Amino acid sequence: MKILITGGAGFIGSNLAKRLVDDKHEVVVLDSLLRGNKLDKDTFSKIKFIKGDIRSRQLVLDASKGCDVIYHFSAVLGVDIVADNPVETMDVEVIGTRNIIEAAEANNVKHILYASTSGIYSHSAIVKNALTEEVLVDPRTSYAMAKRYNEIYLASHHEEKGINVISLRFFNVYGWNQDNRMVVPRFFEQAIANEPITVFGTGNQTRDFTYIDDTVEACVRLMGIKGCHIINIANEAEWCITDLANEIKSITNSNSEIIYIEAPKKRYDYEVERRVGSSQKLSELAKYKPLTNLRTGLEKIYSINYAK
Ligand SMILES: NC(=O)c1ccc[n+]([C@@H]2O[C@H](COP(=O)([O-])OP(=O)(O)OC[C@H]3O[C@@H](n4cnc5c(N)ncnc54)[C@H](O)[C@@H]3O)[C@@H](O)[C@H]2O)c1
Repeated sequence: MKILITGGAGFIGSNLAKRLVDDKHEVVVLDSLLRGNKLDKDTFSKIKFIKGDIRSRQLVLDASKGCDVIYHFSAVLGVDIVADNPVETMDVEVIGTRNIIEAAEANNVKHILYASTSGIYSHSAIVKNALTEEVLVDPRTSYAMAKRYNEIYLASHHEEKGINVISLRFFNVYGWNQDNRMVVPRFFEQAIANEPITVFGTGNQTRDFTYIDDTVEACVRLMGIKGCHIINIANEAEWCITDLANEIKSITNSNSEIIYIEAPKKRYDYEVERRVGSSQKLSELAKYKPLTNLRTGLEKIYSINYAK
């Protein structure tokens, strides 16, 4: 199949591109390189790479010509970056998705898989021990609001035009080649340098960490699914941030002290106390469930990224 990945030079997109190339698909990547290029040399040599902004209508129309599937993953993200750049965040999401929808229609693309976020749940009540896709969402940041807007926008497009759309609500994806906007690489860097590991708040706040290979597997398995769906990509395991820091300390054999500080700036996302996702819907639709436990995933990252 011919597949376009927007944001395909980023952390998740580059891993997905590698997998799709290995599976012998024809892959086109459109990325502005805002975060550099995480595609490895071998993958880069086997794809068509287009450097450009998702907000350019013509570029998206051209990039998606002849494609069967679009993975729409380009975004501005990172708690602080989003808070400092709310307008840019919204523009990239909303204008970008408008362009994707228009291009899919013009080029007769049958499937769009869109990277949404578990961040839209915010303080939603956790029922039956995990957030299901049915709970009332509570998006409060520009990023989360734009993601939710796009989920609805894509669903309405499915209603009107019949194109198959899946919104993937990713839960804290982690893996090698991720940069230190995110908590896992930041803790690794601090632990390896034997510097204090800085935890914002009490450290009792929980998150659900999903390993990159599991995330890619889920994305691939969902590729041909028909209809309109919102699906959590979650590990269904709840870890508090102090335990995450301790695991990383132990894997890196670090002497770092874990210290608890107030976030440098007041950020809504840091205040969410619990977040864990149900992967039941994913397992029903894709016959697959992310299973890598956090310790195993962290050990893999350490051996690939940091151990010399
Ligand atoms: N990593 C996570 O834990 C996580 C969690 C929830 C949702 N997501 C979503 O998954 C997707 C991929 O996230 P990631 O972790 O790989 O992030 P990332 O920052 O590594 O990748 C995003 C990519 O989008 C590109 N980009 C940004 N603005 C662009 C623009 N205007 N035009 C074209 N390209 C542009 C960047 O250069 C980057 O390569 C994003 O949509 C993100 O919101 C990720």
